[in-house]
Amino acid sequence: MIRFENVTKVYKDGTKAVNALDLTIEKGEFFVFIGPSGCGKTTTMKMINRLIDATDGTVSIDGKNVHDYDIHELRWNIGYVLQQIALFPHMTIEENIAIVPELRGWNAEKIRKRTDELLEMVGLDPDTYRTRKPNELSGGQQQRIGVIRALAADPDIILMDEPFSALDPISREKLQQDIIDLQKRIHKTIVFVTHDMQEALALGDRICVMKDGEAVQIDTPEALVRRPASDFVKEFIGNRGQAAVLEGSIEPWIRPLQETDPLKKPISFTADRKEALQRLVTEDMIPVERNGQIVGTITRESAVQFLAGRAEERGRV
Ligand SMILES: Nc1ncnc2c1ncn2[C@@H]1O[C@H](COP(=O)(O)OP(=O)(O)OP(=O)(O)O)[C@@H](O)[C@H]1O
Ligand SMILES: [Mg+2]
Repeated sequence: MIRFENVTKVYKDGTKAVNALDLTIEKGEFFVFIGPSGCGKTTTMKMINRLIDATDGTVSIDGKNVHDYDIHELRWNIGYVLQQIALFPHMTIEENIAIVPELRGWNAEKIRKRTDELLEMVGLDPDTYRTRKPNELSGGQQQRIGVIRALAADPDIILMDEPFSALDPISREKLQQDIIDLQKRIHKTIVFVTHDMQEALALGDRICVMKDGEAVQIDTPEALVRRPASDFVKEFIGNRGQAAVLEGSIEPWIRPLQETDPLKKPISFTADRKEALQRLVTEDMIPVERNGQIVGTITRESAVQFLAGRAEERGRV
């Protein structure tokens, strides 16, 4: 568990990068920071592994102030993917990946095995890439090495600062999936920074939207899309976020069977929301059919309620 309590960072020149941040990231959580350039995301991340010290407030991990940890132990236990690709140019790929495992005293065989496993995970043939230097890799390949290097010594916490920004959409999606699978399997705590709302919605258990050094909303992806706390958040989510909500199943819209016109053509349980909405433009109520049975109805009201976020949940009517 990572906890920020009233954390403020003011740089030497007076820039207040983070202002009174209060939040808790649970163990095993995939936590995403998103917000415009300069809002304090990288500064926030770096206060977790003490690359930057807070001016005020405390950052703690599992109840212990980060300042009370041995700095090396702290850093070895926190994998970090920097915003800029930062492989050591004079070292081979294998040597780059092995830095922390070596510091932790792993033997050569264990390191080799781990290196190969990680290279394979990101689709790079170990025999081809192990002995290359970073400048013999493409930008996207270097970025993938940056990601697996952070995983190498099996840290409990992984900080990732826009790790996929230099990747083409296909590699990006593949690596996103790898990270999701990995987290499901080994329950790492992942703190992830991105500019891309779709990426945030796809990856995050919770998302923190930042603005001017402050957290303006911390919520699950669905709650964020359905109940943005301000116009700023709404704008930030934009059409891409709304499209993601339209991609789900119609299941949450289904209400118990009501009397409907028996001649009405049912909609399939597996229909997508877009199709359902198109029909709801002209129909108030549509029966839902699953395996040849009518299992309920969707109504214009149930769909709108879902998309708007239920009024009672927002505490107003
Ligand atoms: N060493 C520094 N000295 C002074 N100001 C700094 C320093 N590092 C960052 N800042 C300022 O602090 C603010 C937050 O910077 P930070 O790098 O945390 O933003 P960010 O959200 O990561 O932005 P981006 O999305 O562009 O990476 C910015 O206004 C930045 O100019
Ligand atoms: Mg940054």
